[in-house]
Amino acid sequence: MASVPEHTARLRIESLVAGGDGLAREASGRVVFVPGVLPGEEVVARFVTAKRDFARAEVVEVLEPSPVRTTPPCPARARGCGGCDWQHVDPAAQLGVKADIVREALRRTARLPDARVDAGGSVPSWGYRTSLRLAVDRSGRMSLRRPRTNEPVPLEHCLVAHPALDELVEVVRVRGADEVSLRVGAATGERSMWWTAPPGADVELRDVPADVSLGESAVVHEVVEGRSLRVSGASFFQSGPAAAELVVSTVRSLGGDELAAAGTVVDAYGGVGLFATTVVPDDGSVILVEGSPSACQDAEVNLQRHRTAGRAAVVRSSVESWRPVRADVVVADPSRQGLGAPAVATLAATEAPVMVLVGCDPVAFARDAGLLAAAGYRLDRAVALDLFPQTHHVEVVGRFERDGRDGRDERDGRDGRHESTCAHELGMGEK
Ligand SMILES: C[S@@+](CC[C@H](N)C(=O)[O-])C[C@H]1O[C@@H](n2cnc3c(N)ncnc32)[C@H](O)[C@@H]1O
Repeated sequence: MASVPEHTARLRIESLVAGGDGLAREASGRVVFVPGVLPGEEVVARFVTAKRDFARAEVVEVLEPSPVRTTPPCPARARGCGGCDWQHVDPAAQLGVKADIVREALRRTARLPDARVDAGGSVPSWGYRTSLRLAVDRSGRMSLRRPRTNEPVPLEHCLVAHPALDELVEVVRVRGADEVSLRVGAATGERSMWWTAPPGADVELRDVPADVSLGESAVVHEVVEGRSLRVSGASFFQSGPAAAELVVSTVRSLGGDELAAAGTVVDAYGGVGLFATTVVPDDGSVILVEGSPSACQDAEVNLQRHRTAGRAAVVRSSVESWRPVRADVVVADPSRQGLGAPAVATLAATEAPVMVLVGCDPVAFARDAGLLAAAGYRLDRAVALDLFPQTHHVEVVGRFERDGRDGRDERDGRDGRHESTCAHELGMGEK
């Protein structure tokens, strides 16, 4: 039964866990989660919730700061903005701490204590975000939310926003909307803005610069490895082009010789075609499976040249209900919750010798690593990327290799679903 004790305690932080909080232990052995701390620090913390197995506390004083603790530079953070929860960590140290969080998740959740996890790279520490989702306060100012209360904290500037979006944060006012999204194509300078509002709400916009396209279907173009990508408001895009280039090069590297020579690649959760347009060999074919209508429309445009040549299909379907075909390599980049068992079964039925999994939640990634192991795919190595500096978020890219077992014995008769060949799929562009 939960209680709300008032007491404080001195705690030594052992490590950081997925979600970014510090983990400490009371003398009783009970685990305490504390945000805003670093491994090795000794802090005085006030308990805010206490359950039988664990408690949560907030820092009152840092008695022994970590050598990588730094003063958050953002004035909005000082006013309670919860957008960047790791501004207290020296940017140069953030990737290393995130790689440790991935190792810990693989150790605890996937029971892989010896998994190889490399620290792969980071995007620039500031000004990197080309998409922002914001709240608005009562006066219409762009805001981010205060942790726990969710109260909007108005922003004058946002230090992680691309300068072309920071300008919108500063000048634009929006009344009547719940949330506002902003996007810029860094290579083209195109800007878009869309919002959600309660049914029937009268949304009023003020001081929107004339170049900004309005509405969820407004399009910007981004350039990644020299390829232009159309990205509509409702479609997913990485935190910025630097993130897109970093994750693309990491997927290519982990895909290895098998990806470089692949005849057929499945780009599962393919979005607007980021991987399909970049990592698939020139003479290979790609099947992009994606659930969002908006992203599929963008992908059809972005892959038009490949589709005309009969080397690409955009399949609008959930991965779970897609009928698998044989492939040489699968690249899978699911949303935060990860693949889960049904998608693992579908992707394993491609019998691809190599699967590259991209995950944005280390615990979900580790859970999927366990499911993939049960389906015959062993984690070879993983790479942690920092695509969201100043926040606890970490991207993991893993290479999984299919073991030598005969998949037909392992797959509960799912082989019956293989009658649809790649050639059929490529012609259909299934909707
Ligand atoms: C993290 S994004 C990755 C997109 C793309 N790989 C990229 O890097 O730009 C995940 C994508 O999966 C799509 N998605 C989410 N759940 C899905 C599902 N069950 N089946 C198919 N697509 C899904 C989302 O619409 C989104 O485009």
